[in-house]
Amino acid sequence: MSINRRDLIKSTIKGGVILCALPLVTGCSGTARGDVAGSTGNNQLNRLLGRERSEMLLLASLAPNGHNTQPWVVTVVSPDHWIIGSDPDRWLPAVDPDNHDLLVSMGAFLENLEQAAAFYGYQAEITITAASAKERQIAEVKLQKAAGTSGSIDPILSRCTVRKNLLKREISVTDIRHITGDSPNSLHYFAPGSRQSGFLNQGTIEANRLQVTRDAAQEELADWIRWSNGDIEKYRDGLNPASMGITGFAGLFVRMFFNRSTVLKEDFRKSSVVMAEEQVNQHGGWIVLTGQGADPRSYIDSGRNLQKMLLKIRQRNIALHPMTQILQEGNWRSQLANELGVDTPVHLVLRAGYLEKYPDPVSVRRPADRFVKSA
Ligand SMILES: Cc1cc2nc3c(=O)[nH]c(=O)nc-3n(C[C@H](O)[C@H](O)[C@H](O)COP(=O)(O)O)c2cc1C
Repeated sequence: MSINRRDLIKSTIKGGVILCALPLVTGCSGTARGDVAGSTGNNQLNRLLGRERSEMLLLASLAPNGHNTQPWVVTVVSPDHWIIGSDPDRWLPAVDPDNHDLLVSMGAFLENLEQAAAFYGYQAEITITAASAKERQIAEVKLQKAAGTSGSIDPILSRCTVRKNLLKREISVTDIRHITGDSPNSLHYFAPGSRQSGFLNQGTIEANRLQVTRDAAQEELADWIRWSNGDIEKYRDGLNPASMGITGFAGLFVRMFFNRSTVLKEDFRKSSVVMAEEQVNQHGGWIVLTGQGADPRSYIDSGRNLQKMLLKIRQRNIALHPMTQILQEGNWRSQLANELGVDTPVHLVLRAGYLEKYPDPVSVRRPADRFVKSA
């Protein structure tokens, strides 16, 4: 059983009981977001922030993020004044040593937060404070009551990373214009068959081959995969069989027999490369996200642009799958802008494709009280 989209949508009406309305799903499909979609946490958080603000933060946390480490920490100075930071225990030094992906993920979190605040009738004034990528404190948020409510949280609730069954059909010009419309200068589409698409295909395979040979990268991945239902429920973070697209009997098998050491074995490394090869052979082009510079603000802006785009793709039946290895291995990152003919540094690479059927979200999140604390 999967999460019924209607339940997701029903739950958004008037901001009533968001996420609590998600059905509980267990059994053959394993533990998924529906089981642990969370809640805002305990009553203490609701007492500190009130229900609406707690829900805004939970919605913000539905942002995409590398390995689903959910790196955010929110320090409440007062109910309308928050410091948004990141938790070094949730950084990924082996694959993201300069915290580039981390800042993109934080940008996506901030974008969700701003849109969720608008839905509840608040304006979120966001000031980026991080001067370096390793600073824990990233932004300051001040909430003000707005004239009214605006927008919808349906796209935030139903967004998910899809890695399987992307069609090879080229994405139409109309759809590209629609999804990249907010930031046309920083989002670039390369159709299948183009020289750039070929370069990204080849580079992504090579980078995956390199990454699996690096023990540090593999150990880090192993640390962030929750194989058993018990661990998924306990930690409510990381990748899990369902979120990696391993379902049915295979999902049951890996939940029972796979563990941290499986990820370090040669067979697992080989099959990761085979999967990357299959993925690279199955898409309708690439979308590349570029940013003004290599400073924290530029990466955070890219995260916000990413999330604006991701919130529009489901309605067009388009999947966008980040494949970051080409930015993490070898020296592709420095050459990429040149190779692709774009003017500014490349911040993220995403495989694009139409889907016949859009799946429901399955990746889990921690309850808000695990990442929110008072000053
Ligand atoms: C900056 C960034 C980098 C990512 N890199 C990858 C990647 O290389 N491969 C992949 O399969 N998913 C990647 N993802 C997707 C995350 O794994 C995914 O967002 C996370 O597991 C939560 O799942 P959800 O997006 O379905 O909520 C990335 C996401 C972000 C924001």
